[in-house]
Amino acid sequence: MPASRPSKPAILIARAIFPEVMDKLARHFEVEANPADALWPRAELARRLQGKQGVFTTGGERIDAALLAQCPGLRICANMAVGYNNFDLPAMTAAGVLGTNAPGVLTETTADLGFALLMAAARRVAEGEHYLRAGRWDRWAYDILVGQDVHGSTLGILGMGRIGQAIARRGALGFGMKVIYHNRSRLPAEAEAEVSARYVGKDELLRTADHVVLVVPYSPASHHAIGAAELALMKPTATLVNIARGGIVDDAALAAALRAGRIAAAGLDVFEGEPQVHPDLLACANVVLTPHIGSATVPTRKAMAHLAADNLIGYLVHGQPLTPLNPEVMGRA
Ligand code: 8YV
Repeated sequence: MPASRPSKPAILIARAIFPEVMDKLARHFEVEANPADALWPRAELARRLQGKQGVFTTGGERIDAALLAQCPGLRICANMAVGYNNFDLPAMTAAGVLGTNAPGVLTETTADLGFALLMAAARRVAEGEHYLRAGRWDRWAYDILVGQDVHGSTLGILGMGRIGQAIARRGALGFGMKVIYHNRSRLPAEAEAEVSARYVGKDELLRTADHVVLVVPYSPASHHAIGAAELALMKPTATLVNIARGGIVDDAALAAALRAGRIAAAGLDVFEGEPQVHPDLLACANVVLTPHIGSATVPTRKAMAHLAADNLIGYLVHGQPLTPLNPEVMGRA
């Protein structure tokens, strides 16, 4: 009789993903995948999670107490994203389910996009492109599409984690910008010194910065951290960039501020209720809009996917994940 092969743990991959990552996971697991990239409703996700020990998520799948109660066999949710506001981490910890995210591998790529949005907003790049494509460019004029300088200006960073610091390096070392920042905690002196960053209060940051970049994680505490009152503090020549999460900015208030010229321009990669975008933002010329592509380069998305896969393999096969969010659940099983 042929020796029966030990059965592999079963996992679910909730969205379509690189074939090479699927192949890697299939070497270690019984895999149920989603090659059609369907957006499964919650009930369907719960149904497909039956009998699964792990799930590969991409940031859109809400993992909370109600879902976990239906999936008693689940042991790990591996997010292919650094942000994990789709996880109710306390509920996962209570259920003994490990959460992992994908930090580090997308820092520089996301900072690049933040800087691209800053420059596009300040120098009216998208507006200029629309103007040209619409056939409206018929002569040079001294005031045509004049914007704001980036070099030598003051860069205000709200949220000085890995990505915030990468933005600061671009501003200070590449564009001679003065860097001010606000964060829950102050950076060590060496990190501040690298980019000559000055720690300030949030209001001072908003009042002083020529360009404000938001890089704070989303949580109930950061919901609408930038609303009408905060926008009112900013300079009329200032720009605002959000590469963090929708919901950190009150999009309706931002659209009103942009329309009224309360601030000069904005660059947004994330939106409240995305992929829906507030219709008032769509109607504003002075905002550059991108569809949540902060980490979207081939090498970075591959690195994120491999890290999520390695967390599943690390935990379910070897008992040791790479980037656990709630390591206290380990060894509790
Ligand atoms: C992801 C992101 O592509 O990592 C994050 O937190 O915002 C992006 O890099 C996105 O979350 C996938 O849903």
